[in-house]
Amino acid sequence: MIHIRTPKEIEIMRESNRLVAQVLQRLSDAIKPGVTTKELDHLAERLIRTAGATPAFKGYRGYPATLCVSIDEEVVHGIPVSRQLKQGEIVSLDVGAFLNEYYGDAAITVPVGKVSKEAVRLLEVSRQALAKGIEQARDGNRLLDISYAIQSWVESHGFSVVRDFVGHGIGRNLHEDPQVPNFGPPHAGPRLRPGMVLAIEPMINVGTWEVKVLDDGWTVVTADGRLSAHFEHTIAITEKEADILSLP
Ligand code: MF3
Ligand code: CO
Repeated sequence: MIHIRTPKEIEIMRESNRLVAQVLQRLSDAIKPGVTTKELDHLAERLIRTAGATPAFKGYRGYPATLCVSIDEEVVHGIPVSRQLKQGEIVSLDVGAFLNEYYGDAAITVPVGKVSKEAVRLLEVSRQALAKGIEQARDGNRLLDISYAIQSWVESHGFSVVRDFVGHGIGRNLHEDPQVPNFGPPHAGPRLRPGMVLAIEPMINVGTWEVKVLDDGWTVVTADGRLSAHFEHTIAITEKEADILSLP
């Protein structure tokens, strides 16, 4: 069942998501060569707890940290460790927070110093893929209009869309109906209606769309070892264009 949230609930969710966006902003300011992913995790957890919220991912299905930090060929769900960031890497930061009984969830991918031309293009196409999806997240459209817009934008730029992981409804639970794939035919799936809240999160690969999970049981990497990027916003469907909740 897809929940329809009241305007009051949406305002509460805006707070959870604003916190997540503010944390992402602070993390991206902290990104530089030599910083460990564990340090970023501690910063995120401190900011979330100081705001009176709880990290959403920690303990979720046994996930051990506040942040998912996924470097280069890592797609999503990278576990923070003592590894130091290096110039030239791209780093996906995914954060969730639980505040006033509602969840917030968002992700960005940022460069560490100067990165390759291929990486710059991947980041730009992936950021825009999320924007293309959000553009279709409108009253009266169908869910897969979002998916189709993302897939066609990405593939027209020669990149590929991960199939094994998808976006999701979000609210009183981190993951709710519906699943929001980043691929699929247009004019399909449920009708979008005001009050629906979705986390749209394209995961975009330079090479093959195929991925595998490492032996830690979490870290998802590209099957061909090439770069991957990930951007996520939580949005609410309104009578007009989507209301992006995960803004600082
Ligand atoms: N943004 C991701 C998601 O919505 C992060 C989940 S990580 C997990 O699925 F640890 F919580 F699973
Ligand atoms: Co998510």
